[in-house]
Amino acid sequence: MNMATTQSILVTGGAGFIGSNFILDLLASEKTRVINLDKLTYAGNPANLATLENDPRYAFVRGDICDLPLVRKVFATHRPWAVVHLAAESHVDRSIQGADDFIRTNIQGTFYLLQAAREFWQDLAGAEKENFRFLHVSTDEVYGSLGSTDPAFTENSRYAPNSPYSASKAASDHLVRAFHQTYGLPVLTTNCSNNYGPYQFPEKLVPLMIHNAIGGKPLPVYGDGLYVRDWLYVSDHCEALRRLLHRGTVGQTYNIGGGSGKSNIEVVREICGLLQELRPGPKYETLISYVQDRPGHDRRYAIDSSKIRTEIGWVPQHSFSSGLRKTVQWYLHNQEWISSVTTGAYRKWVELQYHTV
Ligand code: NAD
Ligand code: TYD
Repeated sequence: MNMATTQSILVTGGAGFIGSNFILDLLASEKTRVINLDKLTYAGNPANLATLENDPRYAFVRGDICDLPLVRKVFATHRPWAVVHLAAESHVDRSIQGADDFIRTNIQGTFYLLQAAREFWQDLAGAEKENFRFLHVSTDEVYGSLGSTDPAFTENSRYAPNSPYSASKAASDHLVRAFHQTYGLPVLTTNCSNNYGPYQFPEKLVPLMIHNAIGGKPLPVYGDGLYVRDWLYVSDHCEALRRLLHRGTVGQTYNIGGGSGKSNIEVVREICGLLQELRPGPKYETLISYVQDRPGHDRRYAIDSSKIRTEIGWVPQHSFSSGLRKTVQWYLHNQEWISSVTTGAYRKWVELQYHTV
């Protein structure tokens, strides 16, 4: 089937956590084709999309968004009407260990993707040009840290990133804005809070705690555990992105959040409680272990998502407790997935399958 003759959406980073969920949700709910451009770093797992292997609506391109000739070729071959840009280095702790890959992928990669998108878009005409969208997926972490009584972040909050990760995402947001202001590229930017759900790599808080608890390993809580995040179930984020693609106002930024502020220790205790119920065994809470804090640790994030709620009519479908229950159940039912990504078995498969250099 010729993908270029039908409506296609180019998703970058589609083999990662949010990307996999987004592509699965998108193909389940819309008549579209999807091209997934992903480098398959440690965080990318094509097995997440194994159910689409023989689906003619899905095409996978293994590649780096920093490879401009390749990105140009993807645009020319597939002629997408929209780009949903999720590819990134995404883990704060890794960015503290070393930020090179964050600068390269998140800043340089976003720049090359914008460049290729602009070249492609400029040559379009009429409705095709009018309808084209570049949706850049970013984070609430660009706004920095809130005190306990500060109002939640709005789209007008000042940028004040504190980690190399959030600084690299902030830089990418600015590039996206500049491509709109300077060249008129029809962009949308989203700044979303912490996601959790199926297919999240077990280096982030929620899956790490589930994985460690099941294995009887310590549950490492940084500092005093009273750092607050606004948690959003991943499918609610995906739904917001889909709606914005169709109904968002070009050039605008939208904050997306679940409105469920929780301290880390509350999150960990709730996971322990759910495991106690769903997989009775040891007293999971006894595994909680307070460890050294993360440097530059942002105290609190909170998102005011009234703009997307009012303009687009989006509301999250999951409360924190319903989303967390689904998540714990998913990890309990998919222990093979978690062991393959933690043992590196899937990396070996990726090397074989895609002949990694
Ligand atoms: P992830 O780390 O799970 O996945 C990132 C994906 O990008 C992987 O599949 C990886 O292989 C791919 N990738 C990395 N470098 C690449 C490159 N140079 N070229 C092509 N592909 C590359 O990340 P995630 O949690 O799914 O986050 C997706 C996006 O959403 C990121 O931009 C992140 O900043 C943003 N975001 C995430 C959260 C969250 O809580 N996870 C919240 C708000 C925003
Ligand atoms: P994380 O999932 O890494 O997301 P982010 O840093 O992007 O918010 O961490 C969420 C919160 O959980 C953050 O305050 C750091 C904390 N945390 C722990 O306390 N222990 C851990 O092992 C991890 C990974 C995170």
